[in-house]
Amino acid sequence: MVSSCLRSLSKFTACAIVVLLSLSCFSFTTTEAYDALDPNGNITIKWDVITWTPDGYVAVVTMFNFQQYRRIQAPGWTLGWTWAKKEVIWSMVGAQTTEQGDCSRFKLNTPHCCKKDPTVVDLLPGTPYNQQIANCCKGGVLNPWVQDPATAVSAFQVSVGSSGTTNKTVRMPKNFTLKAPGPGYTCGPAKVGKPTKFFTADGRRTTQAMMTWNVTCQNWESRSLNHQVKG
Ligand SMILES: *[C@@H]1O[C@H](CO)[C@@H](O)[C@H](O)[C@H]1NC(C)=O
Ligand SMILES: *[C@@H]1O[C@H](CO)[C@@H](O)[C@H](O)[C@H]1NC(C)=O
Ligand SMILES: *[C@@H]1O[C@H](CO)[C@@H](O)[C@H](O)[C@H]1NC(C)=O
Ligand SMILES: *[C@@H]1O[C@H](CO)[C@@H](O)[C@H](O)[C@H]1NC(C)=O
Repeated sequence: MVSSCLRSLSKFTACAIVVLLSLSCFSFTTTEAYDALDPNGNITIKWDVITWTPDGYVAVVTMFNFQQYRRIQAPGWTLGWTWAKKEVIWSMVGAQTTEQGDCSRFKLNTPHCCKKDPTVVDLLPGTPYNQQIANCCKGGVLNPWVQDPATAVSAFQVSVGSSGTTNKTVRMPKNFTLKAPGPGYTCGPAKVGKPTKFFTADGRRTTQAMMTWNVTCQNWESRSLNHQVKG
């Protein structure tokens, strides 16, 4: 390539463009590797049981993108877990499962999902208002928290049945999985956390979750760096 470059000035220009293009590829790679500088970056999932129902509970599940540089791009996050017992999802607001699964044991009402390991995706912007909750329906796209807290949060509501109806009989879901475009994520076990407090819109009353669980997921680059640092 070098000798052909020297043959004419116009060809040299073409070669310069090639070199520039490959340089821009390099800078792209460095941007991608940026979260090597962000070993504690994580996505935290909070599972707040807000009310009990005759056969289960209603929870608000909130995801926070606590990564410094990594945005979750379209087509967005996919969240999965495995139920600890025989739970079903009666309904969801602000998100949906990708498959209903086998609900044939239900005769009167049909649950939204009967799978042991449901897979949940966000709804798209423009979802009708009566099918939304606060912070839902962003097509699974999440900006970094430091960049914009308002667009770094995703939430949906899930109504769970056959789960137990007290804080002694419910079980935390297991094996959380988070998928998103780019390198994968590994999620830790769910842990019992301090019950979340919610403020009413006028700020005059505080309510509290019945139970709060949280799960932390890290992308593989942050995670391997974190292990090197600690190990
Ligand atoms: C996740 O990120 C938040 C915000 O930076 C931080 O407070 C928390 O300690 C992190 N969690 C873990 C397990 O690294
Ligand atoms: C369950 O609820 C009782 C009474 O409301 C409370 O005292 C207890 O700490 C709760 N346990 C858990 C694990 O949240
Ligand atoms: C969770 O995942 C681990 C490892 O993939 C597997 O051994 C275990 O059986 C899973 N647990 C459930 C309840 O699916
Ligand atoms: C998650 O739960 C752990 C254990 O209780 C707690 O230390 C941590 O602060 C919680 N994180 C969030 C974001 O609620």
